[in-house]
Amino acid sequence: MGWPVVHSRSPGIHGYWLRKYGIDGTYIPLPVRPEQFAAALKAIPMLGFAGVNVTVPHKEAALRAVDRSDPAARRIGAVNTIVVATDGSLEGHNTDGFGFMENLRASVPDWSAKGGPAAVIGAGGAARAIVVALLDGGAPEIRIVNRTPERAQRLREDIGGSLHIYDWVDRASVLADAAVLVNTTTLGMSGQPPLDLTLDRLPKTAVVNDIVYSPLETPLLRAARVRGNRVVDGLGMLLHQARPGFAGWFGIEPEVTPELRRFVLESPG
Ligand code: ATR
Repeated sequence: MGWPVVHSRSPGIHGYWLRKYGIDGTYIPLPVRPEQFAAALKAIPMLGFAGVNVTVPHKEAALRAVDRSDPAARRIGAVNTIVVATDGSLEGHNTDGFGFMENLRASVPDWSAKGGPAAVIGAGGAARAIVVALLDGGAPEIRIVNRTPERAQRLREDIGGSLHIYDWVDRASVLADAAVLVNTTTLGMSGQPPLDLTLDRLPKTAVVNDIVYSPLETPLLRAARVRGNRVVDGLGMLLHQARPGFAGWFGIEPEVTPELRRFVLESPG
């Protein structure tokens, strides 16, 4: 459920897995207006659905509308995956942080959040999930830079932990001795300006991750790769965040494979 939902990649991902695992099911996009979201969600069990993903702009409303939610969803303040329980009640989860962490684990197996400070650009919904995942993964310190500092302050008040907020003009200096740099903003996406960030202070050992996946190699990832950093693109987070939903609805742990990546990249988005 989203508004709009036409560009969602999720029907492609779940459709691929349904075919791969021979499950007689379907995953369909449901465009739902914000003012009708609560009523539409309530009808999901009655319509026979096993569950639903929720995307922009419904993720916060979904947290309020479900019967139960997991601790990650409550800390992030948003639900993206809902499972219909056997008694017809709605369980809300947030799998974005899981997707972020699993993508890094799969792409750079020797990397650990414990290895040093994390620099996070942005303070929106994606940043919240990523900050919670980094804290839970043991990051000793998280430095957040956001164009609008009040939004970063709000994030810190809501989530707590070792979070330090820096001004947008200081974004290059927060990279000193960082073990990971993550862009959670839309900068670098096709049609958007690139993220204007000087990487000189970033250690060559740091991993650089962009959650933007269109293009797959953003200007940030290109610059990081050219100077010798290990880079992780954003498509993996999208694929890995879909795993818990599929497992909850259909009882099978689906795999993220190179074939799935290719399939999603080649599908019209
Ligand atoms: P999402 O839920 O995907 O994280 P979002 O909540 O709209 O999306 O957050 C978008 C992020 O990109 C925010 O951190 C936003 O910064 P502001 O809080 O200042 O709006 C950031 N962003 C978007 N366009 C930007 C730009 N031109 N310059 C700097 N930051 C930008």
